[in-house]
Amino acid sequence: MSTLMRTIVLVFTCLNVLGCAWLIWWTALKQPDEVAEGAVKEHVWDGDLRERNNPMPRWWLILFYITIVFALVYFLLYPAVGSGVLGWSETREYNEEMQSAQRHYAPVYAAFAGRSIEDLAHDSRALALGHSLFATNCINCHGSDARGAPGFPDLTDNDWLYGGTPADIIQSIGHGREGTMPPIGAALGAQGVDEVIDYVLSLSGHAEPADKVAAGKARFVVCAGCHGADAKGNHAIGAPDLTADIWLYGGSPATLRKTLMEGRHGKMPAHQWLGDDRIRLLAAYVYSLSHPQ
Ligand code: HEC
Ligand code: HEC
Repeated sequence: MSTLMRTIVLVFTCLNVLGCAWLIWWTALKQPDEVAEGAVKEHVWDGDLRERNNPMPRWWLILFYITIVFALVYFLLYPAVGSGVLGWSETREYNEEMQSAQRHYAPVYAAFAGRSIEDLAHDSRALALGHSLFATNCINCHGSDARGAPGFPDLTDNDWLYGGTPADIIQSIGHGREGTMPPIGAALGAQGVDEVIDYVLSLSGHAEPADKVAAGKARFVVCAGCHGADAKGNHAIGAPDLTADIWLYGGSPATLRKTLMEGRHGKMPAHQWLGDDRIRLLAAYVYSLSHPQ
């Protein structure tokens, strides 16, 4: 909050608290009683409605004063004017909690330091920790079973966009990944798109008309720079293997057409903030999914 905003809020809050105090004092003590307590007042409404002098119980009144005193004490202790007597701040509380969590968990993670990812992938305690980290940080995109969804890769199939070695997986998790398939359809033309789709489908064993497959294959040169001449993909830029019949977005003719016409842009956010120890446990868990014992 800016200083101006803080001051405005502060001034209004103070006026409010003082106003309440004054109102209670004025109504409870300053107003002279017209008649004795419990007696009927002189006002008459609607012809027959009368009012007795029935003041608030004293303890109730005192409660009001207590809330006002509470507000003033709170003002002094917590950041209102300046940073408050206690020196409390959200950031400090967060940092203290993080440090205490760090102290608590550091030895747990340290037990796995210096061991290879392949080794950790066979350690049930490491996998249990990796699994719980995965459940906290990854399942909203990759699914609770890590089998992904359209646009979010399946991490169990041992078919990798960016490579499946422990180092590749650590890189994917820590630094994130971003794959860009350009919207190439307009340049190919309607017929070109049809032919390329037939060729791509034929690569994963679908029976398509031979002449269109041949024409599509000839057009595939524009794709080969990224997907490779054999269409087996390129880990360096995350271009998928188009021959494995495993799809990131989908292998139906309609989905392939959408991919070609509109392009695709998958983004895996970087998770370096988790720290190296957690990333290694996550990598071991992910690695274990496609390398069962
Ligand atoms: C500039 C590099 C580049 C070129 C050129 C390119 N692609 Fe791609 N393609 C990619 C990348 C990267 C992805 C993955 C996109 C992502 O991760 O969101 C992709 C994704 C795809 C997919 C989705 C695969 C799936 O599993 O759902 C298909 C299909 C595809 N490309 C076909 C083609 C065809 C056919 C051509 C040529 C007409 C082509 N691409 C040209 C880089 C390229
Ligand atoms: C916001 C969604 C999102 C979250 C959260 C997320 N991912 Fe991803 N992840 C993706 C997408 C999308 C891709 C594919 C990127 C692309 O298309 O280029 C990906 C790719 C990957 C890859 C590379 C897969 C391959 O085939 O090479 C790995 C490994 C991975 N994620 C692991 C994780 C782990 C572990 C976590 C949790 C720490 C995680 N992801 C959290 C969206 C996410």
